[in-house]
Parts: sequence; structure tokens; C-alpha cells
Amino acid sequence: MSKTPGLNNLQGAKLMDKIVSLAKRRGFVFQSSEIYGGLNGCWDYGPMGVELLNNIKQQWWKEMTYRENVEGIDAAILMHPRVWEASGHVENFTDPMVDCKQCKARFRLDVLFEDLSIKKKKEILRQLDSQKYAGQQQDDVINEDFEKIVSNDQEAAKLVKYISCPNCGNKGTFTDARKFNLMFKTYVGPVEDSSAVVYLRPETAQGIFVNFMNVLMSSRQKLPFGIAQIGKAFRNEINTKNFLFRTREFEQMEMQFFCKPGTDEEHFAYWRKERMEWFINLGMKKDKLRWHQHPKEKLAHYAKDAYDIEYEFPFGWGEIEGIHNRTDYDLGRHEQYSGKNLKYYDEETKEKFTPYVIETSAGASRSFMAFLVDAYHEEEAPTAEGDMETRVVLKFHPKLAPIKIAVFPLVNRENMPEIARKIEADLRQHFRVFYDDNGAIGRRYRRQDEIGTPYCITVDSQTLEDQTVTVRDRDTMHQVRISMSKLKEYFTEKLL
Ligand code: GAP
Repeated sequence: MSKTPGLNNLQGAKLMDKIVSLAKRRGFVFQSSEIYGGLNGCWDYGPMGVELLNNIKQQWWKEMTYRENVEGIDAAILMHPRVWEASGHVENFTDPMVDCKQCKARFRLDVLFEDLSIKKKKEILRQLDSQKYAGQQQDDVINEDFEKIVSNDQEAAKLVKYISCPNCGNKGTFTDARKFNLMFKTYVGPVEDSSAVVYLRPETAQGIFVNFMNVLMSSRQKLPFGIAQIGKAFRNEINTKNFLFRTREFEQMEMQFFCKPGTDEEHFAYWRKERMEWFINLGMKKDKLRWHQHPKEKLAHYAKDAYDIEYEFPFGWGEIEGIHNRTDYDLGRHEQYSGKNLKYYDEETKEKFTPYVIETSAGASRSFMAFLVDAYHEEEAPTAEGDMETRVVLKFHPKLAPIKIAVFPLVNRENMPEIARKIEADLRQHFRVFYDDNGAIGRRYRRQDEIGTPYCITVDSQTLEDQTVTVRDRDTMHQVRISMSKLKEYFTEKLL
């Protein structure tokens, strides 16, 4: 993950701290099992968080499956263990890791090199090649050369002897690098032996591949067509970090698009465009998004070409979605391992072939975090008394906002609460609304800003005369007067 140029490490960490603390205080995300000290790499979504997450998933589902040529499925998390042999996960889904012999802490190899100072990198490079690095080099050159070496696992493994353990500070205490499989293992049935081993799925994609024929036959689709799925995935990450970025339990939103070999590049280009637009259309800032194409030498064993959509988090650029051309690898392997025919028969051309797959694979939890970070703003805003204060506002796209409309009586008398309750009850049938009659009106607005509610309705003394209410826009803070009888129509246009 490369660092954000605009923010230094400290600023980025401070901003993340603020967002994590807001997320907890306002009920977006809690640490899992917090009262027992928490479980590393696992998070719970609170009342606001579950709404946001559901809205993201719903928008994805609509976008991807409300099409003539994409079907949805929901496969089981536990699958036959042969699935993961065929997919290559048993053999290849590993990270190299080292243990500190002194303090017993375990690290993923690449993580050891992430936060090294330029001075330390120079020192290590000099140890490797004293002549080349004898003089003064630009920092960029040092960073680039160092990056080149550590991106190769075998080369990186040779460098651990120069590094101190981040946990206990001792040097020369690391074991040799070993492969660590990231799949969680468990057992089916009462006997815990090797014949009963199953895995918690590390990706949802395989549930789609093994159902290719079932969906093809039952839906009577013809190539090209896609199968989409949203669901939990589990990876026993060695180093979880950055809040929801790398967790052990997370959700994916994946679609596998099956097409005829030779047409794959055209579909690959189409889905890349579609997926980037999805994030932008849901309000994500364009300048915080970029493409990263995997260099040929780093492509996954199954991929012909691969691009990631990256978001600029406060701690640096990170992948939020991968769009990969997976060729015929997956169906070919499952055909080989299962012995079942997974070829497509083209009735028009009378050809039989193994379809190519274009995959779009987004993390729901990572997208959640990107949408949350992107929505977070601190702004100077006037108080009711005319002073300036900092308001924290989550500028979610209205389709993603957990609460769409808040309803307030200006004061708790003169029939205002009754009118406000009536408005709330009417709108609740159509939108997620929130009623609040507690505290000064300015405070109530700020509370809604903090959870990203796009509109606040206030019933005031003029309501009693002409049945109009104020509707305040979260982003501009401007208010308009709207007739109570027109509210549903007004919000239908704005929100649906
Ligand atoms: N089927 C392909 C696949 O799973 P991936 O790049 O390993 O590819 C796809 O994962 C997406 O899943 C990532 O872009 C990311 O958004 C999300 N993801 C992967 N590992 C994750 C983790 N440990 N925690 C949270 N999200 C993760």
C-alpha cells in the first residue's frame, strides 16, 4: 500500500482515529466481542453501520443483477474440500511469514518492510551492494530499488536478518520464512480427523464456478452472461490492520461473467468502466480513485490481465475492487477435479468450449470503509448564536445514507410534537426516518450531520398557520419551506 502524498503518517493516523472513534460513538462499527477485550480482525456493524452496509450491498445488487444477462445466487459458505484443491487455494493461498524466536510474535514478511525509514533502507541496500550504494542517492531511487527487492518473496526473506522485531526490538531473531495458508479450517460432523476437514470460504467466487452448469440450465441463459453473489468470506490474515481494510471476516460482492474466448477483452474493458462508474455515481470523489494494473510478472496464476480500483485512504492507496480476466482456468480446473462436464455448447456454431471468465470482485466491508472515509468532512459552520464552530458531517450519497430524513418539532409544545409525529409516521412507510425532540435545534442538526442524514424537517410556529415545514439540506445547510402534503412527493424525487 503506497502512502497518501497529501497527508503524512501522523496526519493520516489522526484522521483515521477520528473516523474510527466517530464510527463507534455513532453506532457504525464496534470491535467484535469488545467486552471480552475484542477479537482481532473482526468487527460488528451497529445500527447505523448495518444500514450503510445494507445500502451498499443493495445498490451493488441492483446495479449488477437487474440486467437481462446477470443472475444472482447465494451459495453455502462451507463447500466440498476438493473445491479448494481445484481452485489452487490449498496450494497457493499462502503468505510467507516469519516468527520472532525471542518474543514469539508472527509477522507477514512484507509487513516487516512497510514502515522502514529511508535511512534504514539505505543501510540495508549498502549491506547488499556496498559499491553501488556507497555514495549519495536520491530517496526515490532508494525507495524504488528497495521496493523491487522486497516485492520478491525469496529476496525479501534474505533481508530479515537486518531487521529488528517490531514487537520486542531484537535483531537477528527471526526464523526462516515459511508458508502460511490463510484458509480457516474446521470439521464437518463429530470426528475431527483429516477426512472431515472443510474450509470457511476465502472468496465467494468458487460458489459461482461450481454452480455454473446449474445456473446455465435452470435460467436458460446463453453466453455471455454473469452470475453474481454477495456473501461472507474468511481469511486468517496474519496481520490485520487499518480498521476494516484487512480483516479476518469480511463480505465480498463478486460477479463472474462467462464469455466466449476471444471476446474476453471486450467484456473486460466494459466491466472495468462499469465498476469504476458505480463508485463515482454513488458519490465517491473521482480524484480519490485510480486504476492499478497488475504488472505481467505479478499476475495471479490464473489471470491474463488484472486491474484494481484503488481508493486513497488516509493511510495510503489501497485496493477496493479487483477486475480480473481469469481465462478458462476456473471452469477448466473444476472440470478436471470433479470429472463433470463444464463446457458450453453453442447451438448456433455447434462449438463446445470452456468459457472465459471476467471477474469483478469488490469488498463490501472495504467499500463501506471507503464510502465512510470519503463522506467524512470537517467544516466551519455558524451556530444559532452566530459564532463559528467545526461541524463534522458525513456527506453520504442519499442512496447510501443510513437515515434519510429526521423530523423535529422546534419546541415541545403548541401541538408541534403531534404534527411532527404525524409527519414521521407518514414518511416512515416509505423512508428510513428518525424522530428527535431532544435539545436545541442546532444540536439536533449536528447530530444528524454526524450520521449523514441528508434532510431534516422542522415543524415550527409557521407550520401551525400554513401547514408548511422547513426542510434543511445537509450539505448546503439551506432551508426551504415545503407544504406538509407535498413531503412524500418531494422526498420520492430526491431519495428514490
Ligand atoms: N475472487 C477474487 C478475490 O477474492 P481478492 O483481491 O483477494 O480477490 C477481492 O479480494 C476484494 O475483497 C478486495 O478488493 C477487497 O475489497 C476484499 N478483501 C480481500 N481481502 C480482504 C480482507 N482481509 N479484509 C477485507 N476485505 C478484503
